[in-house]
Amino acid sequence: MRTQVGIIGAGPAGLLLSHLLHLRSVESVVVDLQPREGIEQTIRAGILEQGTVDLLRQTGVGERMLREGFVHHGINLAFAGGVHRIDLHGLTGGRSVMVYPQHEVLVDLIARRLADGGDLRFGVSDTTVEGVEGERPIIRFTRDGGQETLECDFVVGADGSRTFTRFLIPEGRVRTDFFRQYPFAWFGILADAPRSSEELIYAHSERGFVLVSTRSATVQRLYFQCDPDTSVDDWPDDRIWEEFEGRLALSGATVKTGTIFKKDVLQFRSFVCEPMQYGRLFLAGDAAHTVPPTGAKGMNLAAADVYVLDRALGAWYEAKDTGPLEAYTGTVLRRVWRAQHFSWWMTSMLHRFTDATDFDLRRQLAELETVTSSDAGSRLLAESYVGWPLPS
Ligand code: PHB
Repeated sequence: MRTQVGIIGAGPAGLLLSHLLHLRSVESVVVDLQPREGIEQTIRAGILEQGTVDLLRQTGVGERMLREGFVHHGINLAFAGGVHRIDLHGLTGGRSVMVYPQHEVLVDLIARRLADGGDLRFGVSDTTVEGVEGERPIIRFTRDGGQETLECDFVVGADGSRTFTRFLIPEGRVRTDFFRQYPFAWFGILADAPRSSEELIYAHSERGFVLVSTRSATVQRLYFQCDPDTSVDDWPDDRIWEEFEGRLALSGATVKTGTIFKKDVLQFRSFVCEPMQYGRLFLAGDAAHTVPPTGAKGMNLAAADVYVLDRALGAWYEAKDTGPLEAYTGTVLRRVWRAQHFSWWMTSMLHRFTDATDFDLRRQLAELETVTSSDAGSRLLAESYVGWPLPS
């Protein structure tokens, strides 16, 4: 079989790219290890930047998001017994964010691709890629017990943080990995409960960080900072609520409890691979970079990558112009590194580090006070949080 762009991974990067390419009449095939139901049900992040919202809306896949998502004009920072609102909308000239879960974005993209006759192949195995250094790269995989071969002009590695496509870029000679571990993780829950707050609360406390987020009027998403080796089995519901209540009382906020129906532990790391292109292979999204969830940037970076990649592929198909493809890595990495900085900054300002002294604690509180009491400080946070404009 032949296609123009072979895409590995049906996550936000792969599916959105396939959709954008279709709008400019470039063909693609998307393959993924997971069955469709797995992709549509896996709980992940929930915040869309203004630019991501605009992109989904302008390309015709934002209808349900606009109906069912929640626009948030601000976020709260809670620390030292007080809650401080950051007016995202007012500080950024009218930009805001949308609370709409990632898996719902995927449901919408899959439905739209299928309605448009898109070729999505779920539940494949043994995927391999050959020939990215030449002009006819090939993707091979097994589906329903049979071997399939897909000849492409380009291969896009959008296979998430457990990527294999990244490793097609030879390490050392070509590829450099930049990496940072953190000495903590997030314990996340989904609960049937009323909202604790109209807007998200990022809470600093001596006992560690808490994030109060939401999914709907009746389903809430909350996280507390934990040890990376924490097991959900060690945390019965009562102990979880006590932890939230104890930490939030110190920071100055409160929580409304309810019935917990999901518990998970999210690992924390910052990662970037450079370059994001090798021959006819282009990486997009988590396959090339991971951010800690504190800045809510993961899915938004994936969207920004493929926004640029779609236009670059368009220039190649329309005018055989290779310039934008050659510039891809440089263009997207500027945003990636700014998001890395922002995510690291939010993380380091709000979390308790294992070796933290009282000095560190007081320094964090002073930093939070600087950010929330200064118009310039709040604006810096707000601009980064709602997201920088997509490259023109
Ligand atoms: C979420 O609701 O899952 C969420 C929100 C904000 C973050 C991270 C995760 O910074």
